[in-house]
Amino acid sequence: MDVLIVGSGGREYSIGLALSKDKNVDKLYFAPGNGKTDELGENVDIKEYEKLADFVKTNSIDLTIVGPEAPLTDGIVDIFEKEGLVIFGPSKDAARLEGSKVFMKNFLAKYDIPTAKYIETSDYEKAVDFIDSLNEPIVVKADGLCAGKGVIIAESKDEAKKAAFDMLSGESFGDAGKKIIVEEFLDGYELSVFAVCDGKDYKILPAAQDHKRLLDKDKGPNTGGMGAYAPTPLINDKLYKKIEDRIVKPTLRGMEEINSPYKGVLFIGIMVVKNEPIVLEYNVRFGDPECEVLMPLLKTPASELFYKAATNALSELNIEFLNKYAVAVVIASENYPYKSSKPSEIIVDKIVDEELKNNSHISYAGVKKIDGKLFATGGRVLLCIGLANSIKDARDRAYELCGQVHFAGKQFRTDIAYQALKV
Ligand code: AMP
Ligand code: GLY
Repeated sequence: MDVLIVGSGGREYSIGLALSKDKNVDKLYFAPGNGKTDELGENVDIKEYEKLADFVKTNSIDLTIVGPEAPLTDGIVDIFEKEGLVIFGPSKDAARLEGSKVFMKNFLAKYDIPTAKYIETSDYEKAVDFIDSLNEPIVVKADGLCAGKGVIIAESKDEAKKAAFDMLSGESFGDAGKKIIVEEFLDGYELSVFAVCDGKDYKILPAAQDHKRLLDKDKGPNTGGMGAYAPTPLINDKLYKKIEDRIVKPTLRGMEEINSPYKGVLFIGIMVVKNEPIVLEYNVRFGDPECEVLMPLLKTPASELFYKAATNALSELNIEFLNKYAVAVVIASENYPYKSSKPSEIIVDKIVDEELKNNSHISYAGVKKIDGKLFATGGRVLLCIGLANSIKDARDRAYELCGQVHFAGKQFRTDIAYQALKV
């Protein structure tokens, strides 16, 4: 089959890489892709979704997979499905689980899915009253999409009130902050759990952990994610079962009940507090960098998983994973996440060690080809991924590969997967 992947990051590269090794896949397209996806398939520079749907029809592409949230919340799936095309991702209505935190929190409350105590409001006085009723720290969230920056963890009530005021006045995030959530702080550890869904059925992928802060020991500002690993030992069968019974199943049932059956990846950001899973947030797509560690662990052909999910046929699939661990280390550009950096040429040494060659790879993200040479042009430039029978060996391989990649100003964390190696 021929497949189009929408997006341009490391996540989309990693999906493409898995599909490029899949014997069911003939040709890959990326819209728009990046400076390396053109080596896995063809980059297509079409921005309008209607025109992209025309391109898919003209080229008889069998399946479209959507990577990032923006096209999903814009309604790309509805546009493609109206044209009778097969596309993996949630409808615009279902994508509100990520696109509106107010929708998400009210949905969780309606279906009795565990989440932090909260209020939703557009009224500053109400926000102040609720803030006064909570213990510090206090979490204040803008309703809409804010590129991962719409969550403030305030150490004091005054700071929480200021965050609420700045959001509600439109100062911080424009219209995305005109409604806010104020919620209690949850003290525990975070997991990223992914369910691939077809509207009714689902398959759970191995749980992962992301590293959101820029610097070692979880210091520095929040980023899109500086590294990930999977499966994490911080979950066991009992916890998986609680997550399925209390979160995944009621979510799918609830979405069906409100006529927004959920198809695509449901990414559940979970805080585990005293062995109980509590939903922090939903995302309606794969995490990045989590996707880069999940794709290489998939034993089932990726084309089968995505096609069956997109065509309501997941119940036919017996999903299998390699009995291995994957660790991904993000290499970012010099000024990430504050501002852009000057493009610099990327040199990757020839890997001579056979073991490293066979058990590691690079997933490319913010890269561009200029005159045939590869340049770092984005914030998160690429990821080095190691695979092994233990997390420690997978991490050693990922870091060994990091040492073979060179560009001016490269920065990366040196402690990815530390939570797993502590236990
Ligand atoms: P969100 O975009 O809602 O996932 O929030 C981003 C990050 O803020 C999460 O990954 C958590 O690290 C943190 N966070 C959000 N809500 C809470 C909460 N209620 N308690 C503790 N940490 C939170
Ligand atoms: N890695 C977190 C995210 O993709 O939102």
